[in-house]
Amino acid sequence: MIKQKKRIPLFKVFVPKEAEKNVKNTLYSGFLAEGKKVNAFSRKISKYLKNPHVVLTNSCTMAITMAYKIAGVGPNTEVITTPLTCIAGNIPIVSLGAKPIWADICRKTGMVTAENIRPLITKKTRAIYILHKEGSPANLDDIYALKRYNNKIRIVEDAAHAFGAKKNNKKIGSFGDFICFSFQAIKHITTGDGGALLCGNKKDYIKAKKLKWFGIDRDNREGRNVWKEDIPEWGFKGNMNDIAASIGLSQMKYIDWILDKFHQNGRRYDEAFRKTKGIKILERNPNDFQTYWGYTILVKNRDKLIKALNRCNIESGQIHARNDKYSMFKSNKKLQLPNTDWFDKSEIAIPCGWWVSKQTQNFIIEKVKEAVS
Ligand SMILES: Cc1ncc(COP(=O)(O)O)c(C=O)c1O
Repeated sequence: MIKQKKRIPLFKVFVPKEAEKNVKNTLYSGFLAEGKKVNAFSRKISKYLKNPHVVLTNSCTMAITMAYKIAGVGPNTEVITTPLTCIAGNIPIVSLGAKPIWADICRKTGMVTAENIRPLITKKTRAIYILHKEGSPANLDDIYALKRYNNKIRIVEDAAHAFGAKKNNKKIGSFGDFICFSFQAIKHITTGDGGALLCGNKKDYIKAKKLKWFGIDRDNREGRNVWKEDIPEWGFKGNMNDIAASIGLSQMKYIDWILDKFHQNGRRYDEAFRKTKGIKILERNPNDFQTYWGYTILVKNRDKLIKALNRCNIESGQIHARNDKYSMFKSNKKLQLPNTDWFDKSEIAIPCGWWVSKQTQNFIIEKVKEAVS
């Protein structure tokens, strides 16, 4: 048996050498709060994702929370959502006093479908949360069409895994109601912790700018005494700072290279596993560009595979546990989510990113196939 000496991590973040210089310059500049670096990073994101309405935050969780608040999510309202995501998508619903309504997912994609969401829409629905799972764009046309059943509904897209992904050649984030990105420590682009809320219109953008800093607009503060102004609506302490933005800025030069590496590896896995007995791969729309932030396969005996890969020094695992099991959500115990049940038991992610060379990937493919045979 070939022995893999160094452990192959499931996640590894790319930080170029110049990040050191950038951060050092900021550290000794005398200003660490939200300032020039955040503005520069925001402009870069705006240009890259082709949306002028970018608000940088201290996390994606904050971006999602702000999006819900702008959408009118609060006491006595509901958000239709998926249980198969990071709890960052669902905790903000309860923290704002609203109720999550769980929709079942599709076995082929791991994402919620318009068909499953439709019967759950009520007068109380204010938002639909969708995840672009591992950077595979969700079926947005069908999801956005659901707004016709209740004109108060806004769509909150979790694009934490989808920086640079494209739907029909249009970048995720360049259109839609609210699109939330993460720059947390293991994402394509990182600021240590950080995020972005992209809005589909100027009105929401102006509101988002206030919500990220207590309810006050930080722009054009020269000559203004903000403390003399009223704060009609409370906001959060959710802004990004210049240290985080300096790290993010250092990676933007490399973003296409980073995405290309993830994408190429993802495509190679698709080819390698498409016809493998004992493995199901996720269905992907050929008109979209997937970022393959993770690579999930579905197998019968996940624990056996994790153990076998572990013996070969390959890290693997389930990225998100289903959320409806947590008692904080006070879920309806009788809820029938058969696809979620099956998916939650079968999914396992394997290393896919820029750190996985062709040779390493061949090794992983061989070991996965051996373990499921
Ligand atoms: C799908 C998804 N959404 C949201 C988040 C939360 O991101 P953040 O840590 O930036 O709040 C994560 C986190 O890793 C995630 O995987």
